[in-house]
Amino acid sequence: MAGFRGSELILSKAYANSPTKPALSLYGRSKGKTLTQRQQGLLQDLLPTLAIPQGPINPRGIWPKMAEIWVEIGIGGGEHLLHQAARNPNVQLIGFEPYQNGMAKTLVSLATEKLDNVSLEMNDARGVLERFADASLDRIFILYPDPWPKRRHWKRRIIQPQFVVELARLLRPGGTLRFVSDIQHYQQWALRRILDNGDFKWSCETCRDWQDPPSDHCTTKYEQKAFREKRQPAYLHFVRKGAI
Ligand SMILES: C[S@@+](CC[C@H](N)C(=O)[O-])C[C@H]1O[C@@H](n2cnc3c(N)ncnc32)[C@H](O)[C@@H]1O
Repeated sequence: MAGFRGSELILSKAYANSPTKPALSLYGRSKGKTLTQRQQGLLQDLLPTLAIPQGPINPRGIWPKMAEIWVEIGIGGGEHLLHQAARNPNVQLIGFEPYQNGMAKTLVSLATEKLDNVSLEMNDARGVLERFADASLDRIFILYPDPWPKRRHWKRRIIQPQFVVELARLLRPGGTLRFVSDIQHYQQWALRRILDNGDFKWSCETCRDWQDPPSDHCTTKYEQKAFREKRQPAYLHFVRKGAI
């Protein structure tokens, strides 16, 4: 895992963050079709201005005027993130998307809408969120995460017991997690792992609570495909337990 180059100790990527903790692997596409010049320009010039600072992050210290801090993991083309940002000007929205073309699309929309309460990271959310302070987030959205339907790929799903521990660490008591998937196996997988963690309460009283989109939801290209293919999404809403 480690070797020497000259006098430097070189750590392999798997141990780059900590000598004891292997780095997480990111699966899925990072690039797609060739970007337009405008998209390339926005990635180069606009994206760095929206980045999360280096080092430990205390979001309330960075955005003291914001009432709340919301995170979306895997924003795709940014439809939902920008919808929320436009409707909640007193909330800082932080979006993570490692897929370059998704981020480029988000930046084009953001440049048109001119919202000033959006932060973006073209990175694996997990590596950045681990620098965030405990209980520093009010809401987390994970909408249609990559389903990895084959059994041998289930370990690639973002919802894993350890990551649920991390989500619980990040959310303040009373903070909420919204998980949405159109893949039945992943719906059940996520529900089981999130409830097994013990730090979350599933706020669901009737079937309608998980079958109907929440009133503040915004559909995306990905969700429209699920509807066309007659898959019923589950909108799972959890509240972080603990004294408020
Ligand atoms: C199926 S798409 C759904 C996109 C969007 N949420 C929507 O509903 O349209 C899942 C997205 O999650 C992103 N993703 C996968 N792993 C991620 C990670 N560890 N951190 C941030 N984003 C991730 C992928 O690049 C992909 O764009």
